[in-house]
Amino acid sequence: MNPNIRNFVIIAHVDHGKSTLADRLLEVTGTVEERRMKAQYLDQLDLERERGITIKMAPVRMLYKYGGADYILNLIDTPGHSDFSYEVSRALQAVEGGILLVDATQGIQAQTLANYRLAKEVGLTLIGAINKVDLFKDEKGEIRWDDDRLKQVRSELAQLLETEEENISGISGKSGWGTKELLDRVVREIPGPKENESLATRGLIFDSFYDDHKGVVASIRLINGEIDPNKDIYLAGTDTHSKIKEIGYFSPELTSLGSTGRLKAGEIGYVATGIRDPHKVKIGDTLIQSTNLSAKQVSEIQGLPGYEEARPVVFVSFYPEDNDDFELLEKGLQKLRLNDSALAIEPDQNEVLGRGFKVGFLGRLHFEITAERLRREFKVDTVNTFPSVLYRVRKNKEWLPIVKPEDLPKEYDEIQEPIISLEMLVPQDALSSVMGLQTKFRFGEMHTESLGDRVKLSTIMPLAELISDFDDQLKSATKGLASFSYRFLDYKTADILRVDILVATEIIPGLSRFLPRAEVEREARRMVESLKEHLPRQQFHQSLQASVEGRIVAREDIPAIKKQLGNFGKNGGDRTRKMKLWKKQEKGQKKLEERSTVHISPETFKELLKR
Ligand code: GTP
Repeated sequence: MNPNIRNFVIIAHVDHGKSTLADRLLEVTGTVEERRMKAQYLDQLDLERERGITIKMAPVRMLYKYGGADYILNLIDTPGHSDFSYEVSRALQAVEGGILLVDATQGIQAQTLANYRLAKEVGLTLIGAINKVDLFKDEKGEIRWDDDRLKQVRSELAQLLETEEENISGISGKSGWGTKELLDRVVREIPGPKENESLATRGLIFDSFYDDHKGVVASIRLINGEIDPNKDIYLAGTDTHSKIKEIGYFSPELTSLGSTGRLKAGEIGYVATGIRDPHKVKIGDTLIQSTNLSAKQVSEIQGLPGYEEARPVVFVSFYPEDNDDFELLEKGLQKLRLNDSALAIEPDQNEVLGRGFKVGFLGRLHFEITAERLRREFKVDTVNTFPSVLYRVRKNKEWLPIVKPEDLPKEYDEIQEPIISLEMLVPQDALSSVMGLQTKFRFGEMHTESLGDRVKLSTIMPLAELISDFDDQLKSATKGLASFSYRFLDYKTADILRVDILVATEIIPGLSRFLPRAEVEREARRMVESLKEHLPRQQFHQSLQASVEGRIVAREDIPAIKKQLGNFGKNGGDRTRKMKLWKKQEKGQKKLEERSTVHISPETFKELLKR
């Protein structure tokens, strides 16, 4: 095995500068020519660039000279938001070490801690680095290491990594200052890949995407052996044999190794599997190849310890705003699914909204991004139901998974909801405001731990609370200075009721939702009031009601718009004609009322979600 390989990740909290640092490393190593360089090079999606967030991880192979020797550096850029920590955990399995990057102005944040723990669990070697030191310069342009803030962040990071402060690098991803020195540390300190004996060639699939010509392309970390592009491969988890189309490296564009090239142990690269069905290429599965074993013997080779599949936790039904767009929506979702194995898609039907899909997501941000991509890349406007978590309902000793309130049986014995463990880092002086959110978001017991000028708050919370507007409320309680991370914990018995919204005595499917008993009345009133505010007035009168267990708990009315009856002349015109018109209008209104399906726009849904 080539000992001069370094496989590493950059892990950090959102916006601490991973993508910017990755750009500099591409430049330092000459991987991307200067004239082709653009900001956030590895973020391939327009949406990623615009919102400045990394959604998909991207691997890249760089060549670097150090101490007279040639090195292969494989970097995997990872997303920072908690919704995508699943992606991070996958990347961590494919490398030996990482750079733990912290923004000098923000210090350690919740996702820094969460990612640090994930990396430690896998046994990675970590190098601590403080980014954005360019913001701490004196008049001569020198970095002020004696600045209190910088000193504090350095000491906190050293403490977390259990190392000396001198071992924490200072860099500026923006100007490139210190990035070469950081790369030198990667070569020196992160161990090379280790040999691992096996009868056959084995590689870990840590990501995949779809290519129209090549089929599913698997990102591979090769553990042992060599991959020969002329031989078949076997995927252990899905028991699939296939003929390779192409193998190669990420430079960062796909670069074929041709038919004589080989992907070798310790390396990171891609295998175009030729497989058309993305379900057959599972993330975390083992790709096996052998020249001297029979197909049967190959299928008996042990797979590598993989990782759990992504588990969708938030469910939303999507319907095309225009029924004719159903096929477009279907195509869009399927296309997105090809490159986003975490998306779970199922057909769905709604009386008012028509045919659509129930889609499972990793979190609220994942949902918002997907909805946005559908709109932009596939030009489908959709109407969405409330995001819901997956409840478990016990009836006659059987557990039923329930997402939609409509599916809740009339009688049941128990309902359980998913619970997360939540960790927040908040400034000392915002502690009481955050404590004030306890009842609203149903926090469990709170544990506090002092961390410099901040407090680490650990608690448990129902996942349903996280996907309402927890994010916004935490931000406003702390002037945007708090951060949080979460992990799925368990299911717990809950006192949850189904609330329906009725317009003109008809239940509006899609507006029904599950709510904790204590919140039902207040929330029902708020929803009805908010509906009144956001629903446009019609030519007919609209009554809005919220009902729980057959009881009306809130009511509002939207009066009809009176139509202008035109000019009937100086003396009020011909009275009979006027009466006739009124009659006609009244009749028309009745008709309208009968047919009154109310259109609820995505914006209204969003407003209804707030509280
Ligand atoms: P996610 O992909 O969302 O996790 O963010 P990220 O960690 O990749 O952060 P990104 O590289 O997008 O940088 C976040 C912001 O910080 C951007 O506005 C950058 O321009 C800015 N930034 C990054 N590095 C530096 C730096 O060294 N100095 C300064 N002043 N700003 C920086």
